Amino acid sequence: MSLVNAKEMLKKAHKEGYAVGQFNINNLEWTKAILLTAQENNSPVILGVSEGAGKYMSGYKTVMGMVNGMIEELKITVPVAVHLDHGSYDGAIQAMNAGFSSVMFDGSHYSIEENVQKTKEIIVKAKAKNISVEAEVGSIGGEEDGVTGKGEIASPEECKLIADLGVDMLAAGIGNIHGKYPDNWKGLDFEALAAIQKAVGSMPLVLHGGTGIPVDMIKKAISLGVSKINVNTECQLVFAEATRKYIEAGKDLESKGFDPRKLLKPGFDAIKASVKEKMELFGSINKA
Ligand code: 13P
Repeated sequence: MSLVNAKEMLKKAHKEGYAVGQFNINNLEWTKAILLTAQENNSPVILGVSEGAGKYMSGYKTVMGMVNGMIEELKITVPVAVHLDHGSYDGAIQAMNAGFSSVMFDGSHYSIEENVQKTKEIIVKAKAKNISVEAEVGSIGGEEDGVTGKGEIASPEECKLIADLGVDMLAAGIGNIHGKYPDNWKGLDFEALAAIQKAVGSMPLVLHGGTGIPVDMIKKAISLGVSKINVNTECQLVFAEATRKYIEAGKDLESKGFDPRKLLKPGFDAIKASVKEKMELFGSINKA
């Protein structure tokens, strides 16, 4: 059984200087493409599930049924964590009850006092079930499930406060943004990243908004302590592009080209290629 929490895989990544990709899933094709790519490349992987995607897939129990079934029937042996992405307090409790092995409690929009209090409660519940916990300090820019953040830079003192509560990984805003980066984006703030890592000791850091960050910035972020990188939009973009090309070429009108197993195949292959490319860049290949 390869379903694990994210603690050990991220500790190892932090120690050895690479990052594990969190790839968000939306449906069966996404999940299968990501799991197969991880297995083929002997890479640990984290499947990210936002609250919106969880609802779309019929709920957290359905997600776990699908993932557990695939792990068994596709013979996935690399470490796989199923992680709630940007969970609310109630969402985190529901995901833990449904069998998620990891949760993010995003209390970044609360006051620091309330973020601390709620994070503490989630940690107690998670520890009892051996589930890993990610917390966020300084909201990540862009839009995530309808919540828009401004791309703050997290304060190292607040990061230390939250890290000391006993979370397993910490997402800290360093100018990163969800979705596509605007042309006038200033890039990641590496001084802030170094100061945050210094403040939180050996705690693995999480970089959200992995789509569209230049390769050299990704490498530098990993060298400064980022051990988990979240990618969502990129898989959506490559899937949509491949599907559009298929339809624009009229392939759905040829023979049985309308069969969803054919129609969704180019998008599935595009996700596989994109995930492999990220695993290479993050350095997680052969680290299972
Ligand atoms: P992107 O959609 O920008 O890749 O960000 C994903 C993410 O950070 C999920 O939490």
